[in-house]
Amino acid sequence: MTETQALLERALRHMTPNYTPPPFVAVKGAGTRLWDTDGKEYLDFATGIGVNALGHAHPAVAAAIAAQAATLTHTSNTFYNDKYIALCERLASISSCARVFLCNSGTEAVEAALKTARRFFFENGAARTGFVATHNSFHGRTYGGLTVTGQPNLQQGFGPLLPDVSHVPYGDLEAMRAAVGPKTAAVIVEPIQGNGGILVAPKGYLAGLREITKKAGALLIFDEVQTGIGRTGKWFAHQHDEVVPDIMTSAKAVGGGLPLGAMLTTDAIAAVALKPYSHASTFGGNPVACAAGLATLDVIVKEGLLANCARMGGVAQELFQAVASKRPMLKEFRGRGLMVGLALDRPAKPLQKACLARGLLTTTAGNTVLRLLPPLNVQGAEMERAATIIAEAMADPSVA
Ligand SMILES: Cc1ncc(COP(=O)(O)O)c(C=O)c1O
Repeated sequence: MTETQALLERALRHMTPNYTPPPFVAVKGAGTRLWDTDGKEYLDFATGIGVNALGHAHPAVAAAIAAQAATLTHTSNTFYNDKYIALCERLASISSCARVFLCNSGTEAVEAALKTARRFFFENGAARTGFVATHNSFHGRTYGGLTVTGQPNLQQGFGPLLPDVSHVPYGDLEAMRAAVGPKTAAVIVEPIQGNGGILVAPKGYLAGLREITKKAGALLIFDEVQTGIGRTGKWFAHQHDEVVPDIMTSAKAVGGGLPLGAMLTTDAIAAVALKPYSHASTFGGNPVACAAGLATLDVIVKEGLLANCARMGGVAQELFQAVASKRPMLKEFRGRGLMVGLALDRPAKPLQKACLARGLLTTTAGNTVLRLLPPLNVQGAEMERAATIIAEAMADPSVA
């Protein structure tokens, strides 16, 4: 039995069966490359679902983690730590929100956002407890996040869910206007639906949401867990539209590869909703994760990676338009910056498998979309290699 076979057997015996990863075991990464136990090399355009913003084992991030691990690893919220303070300050400086709460994941950031919205109205004596979200959205797996998620298949068997939550079609302002009322605490929307299939909000949609919520006296939450920290070419995707939310979330790349999430809001909302002891997290804002996040933000600035995301997004669009002209199964190029979706006329899983066999790691979004989330420092040659592999994989008999 090979080392890989032995590991896979142990995985099947002891891991809970809610994941179905392909049969290889990752052991090492460097930049855009990943290696398995058999020494096979992969080009990694999955990046741990958009987490590894600078690729694997970036020297600046690795050094920051090592230094922090040797200095101070945990204080909890009982005491201030210098990295927590510094990261809050940095996130405030790149967003419209002055106040930051740190947690450990995207779903916790969403949970904090929903709780902040409800508590804000509770403290103001207003009977607003409702949330309006969109069909096809993804906001996480805790009860709050799962309830506002607009994918009933993910909710099946977990009810009863949170009360007072409704969903309307993404991009439909009239439906949103009709759904938001005097009982609505907040509207929660992804500026680009990620997990749902890389659907970019139609022009004017985010501004329309702002207008509707303002008029109705409800809060507006942008879930930037997947779109944030530069992936679309701006720090946060809604910044392309000059629309300011009341609350926003961040996670994935914000921890530079370590578990970290953030809920951001305004001074005014935080002062009312987040009084002492109203919300907390033991691990949230762990100094090692914050140090990794700070190092990641530094590199994004130093290496001009927001511009690289925008530029490489353009390169991807050109490359995949050329692929589409040869492979009609590729129906549509979707996305912004380095959040890329290739919409097919068929299920995307066989293509993902054929790419894997050729050494390219991808994820899927929705049933028919191959999702590419390369690191923000990806170069043109790697993008070309990915496009070549995908075009070849599309001709594989298992896909074609
Ligand atoms: C927009 C959005 N919100 C929330 C989440 C949940 O994040 P996590 O898996 O870190 O809990 C995700 C994860 O993919 C996401 O894309």
